[in-house]
Amino acid sequence: MVTTYKEGNIPNACPQAWTLYSGDGAGYYVIFSVIKRAHTYKNILREKEFVVNFPSSDEFRKCMDTIKNNSDDTDEITASGLTIEPSIIVNAPRIKECFLNLECKLGWHRPLHKGSFHHVFAGEVVHVAVSPDHVKHNSNGRYGDTGYIYNIHSPIDPTTGEQEPAKVGKIEPMFEM
Ligand SMILES: Cc1cc2nc3c(=O)[nH]c(=O)nc-3n(C[C@H](O)[C@H](O)[C@H](O)COP(=O)(O)O)c2cc1C
Repeated sequence: MVTTYKEGNIPNACPQAWTLYSGDGAGYYVIFSVIKRAHTYKNILREKEFVVNFPSSDEFRKCMDTIKNNSDDTDEITASGLTIEPSIIVNAPRIKECFLNLECKLGWHRPLHKGSFHHVFAGEVVHVAVSPDHVKHNSNGRYGDTGYIYNIHSPIDPTTGEQEPAKVGKIEPMFEM
């Protein structure tokens, strides 16, 4: 979930799937692509700050409700039954129920390609908040039933074109590298 402020400091939330993470020791970045008609696109260009919040499966339905509660003057977080908590460094709301919050400042941005309706943002992570329950690297922490959820985006059989509904996945460690 990417959270920002709409004009007038109204809290905004956007379920976000097209995302990758990269770091080189001198900075850790979240890179993601946003549709230009979304509030999130305008909000990030205006405020240059945002938070990336990681829900567990418990919050999934409420996160989806933010898509319905999407008008310009709606606090999408509160209207969807989630709780706002202030960020430490950036001017953007955090979602309290999310077990991990990455506060980010805009690094760079560009269209996905010339004329694309998707726009790519790279945010430098400037503060990390993680819930004590999720600090440990085990199946009761950030993985398994209580951890990260993964967007399995409408799987398709490439030989027939048959498409299945989108699904929510989880991450289970398999073996040590
Ligand atoms: C599972 C899921 C993943 C999504 N991933 C993205 C994404 O990667 N980029 C994007 O722009 N919109 C994505 N969307 C759509 C936005 O969440 C949706 O357009 C939202 O209403 C935008 O909110 P905003 O207008 O408040 O920014 C996704 C929606 C769902 C349900």
